[in-house]
Amino acid sequence: MRVVLGVGGGIAAYKSAELVRALQQRGHEVQVLMTRAAEEFIRPLTFAALTGRKVITGLWAGDGSQDTLSSAVEHIGVAQENDLLVVAPATADLLAKFAHGLADDFLSTLYLAFTGPVVFAPAMNTAMWEHPATQDNLNALRARGCSFVDPDEGWLACGTVGAGRLADPLRIADHIDSHSHRKKDLAGEFILVTAGPTQEALDPVRYISNRSSGKMGYAIAEVAAKRGADVLLVSGPVNLPVPHNVERISVRTAQEMREAVLNHLAEASIIIKSAAVADYYLAEVPQHKLKKTATRLSLELDPTPDILAELGERKGDRLLVGFAAETDNLIEEARRKMTAKKCDMLVANLVNRDGLGFESDQNEVEIITRSGQTVHAGPADKKEIAERILDQVAVLRLVLRAVDTTRLTQRT
Ligand code: CTP
Repeated sequence: MRVVLGVGGGIAAYKSAELVRALQQRGHEVQVLMTRAAEEFIRPLTFAALTGRKVITGLWAGDGSQDTLSSAVEHIGVAQENDLLVVAPATADLLAKFAHGLADDFLSTLYLAFTGPVVFAPAMNTAMWEHPATQDNLNALRARGCSFVDPDEGWLACGTVGAGRLADPLRIADHIDSHSHRKKDLAGEFILVTAGPTQEALDPVRYISNRSSGKMGYAIAEVAAKRGADVLLVSGPVNLPVPHNVERISVRTAQEMREAVLNHLAEASIIIKSAAVADYYLAEVPQHKLKKTATRLSLELDPTPDILAELGERKGDRLLVGFAAETDNLIEEARRKMTAKKCDMLVANLVNRDGLGFESDQNEVEIITRSGQTVHAGPADKKEIAERILDQVAVLRLVLRAVDTTRLTQRT
């Protein structure tokens, strides 16, 4: 793969030299581009010697530098010639520029002209990393489909300990590597993903819900779209941006989720039901707010429709993936749900472990396949878990297609 490495102006710029080596060892060609600030930390000669190529430096044409490759149109050429753009270290200033589409130097202009995958490896002081402005910029870039190798925690150059240290160059290289292996193995599939909780009203201001953040379902939708699928995300109320190339329908209640899913069932070839649907609802919601009294309040709740079980009955040759959130007897409960709801695959996770599952960015799951095998994934970032789930989905799809073809051949 041809990788263009944008080096930002941070103390970690020297580690980008190690990143160049790690990428070369994995067989990638690297073109280095340095911002003006980066040149304050490391000399272009280091990168030129490592890559055997002229390093792109300076600002726009007109900055007086004769020996740079910069010119008014060169960023287009660099954008077209390379398969992936990685920015390491990505400073708070660069992330803000990219998030807002500023284009006042070679790197920011290249970012706008670049249509391939973009990876950021941020590095900065902990307070800058955690600042809402930086986090908003990260979310905007994530929503656009850029991926991040998040900084490590540890001693920072400013003398403090915390998150913000540039990730290990080997970890950045591994992440980049995964892009080069990524196939469009879900092209041609229409994947319907449900995500998030549902909310069931008790009165005009109160509702029953659960702690689902929707992050797992959103990660599945994002990764499925990157792997070539058409993705429709039916989402309960969550606070997450719509992933790149994904269409979202927002719903609130289990009943609304059921309607949205059934309305689009005909188009779907794969359904992944990661939503944490509320199990009970109040059938007659009062028009007015329930008033507090000194006595105990009892409400009679009815079961919500079990969407997954209904899909199990109506799925035809669609591939149906269910989820099971458990606190005990994980595998046993998951197998029971898989059979009861007629799923082709079930992803089970324990939800009573600190730092994993609900609300967290990390997860650890058991994927139960049709053959009854269990595949363990994690603990890892939810995007990584999404990749592993979709690997199993892609394999099962191939197997089911092969079985169909054999049946057809036998009939003719
Ligand atoms: N599910 C659904 N509709 C419901 C309840 C659950 O479609 N009304 C789906 C979920 O999206 C998930 C799977 O069923 O894919 C399992 O959800 P889970 O909450 O773990 O199981 P339940 O069947 O609700 O059983 P319990 O709460 O008793 O564990």
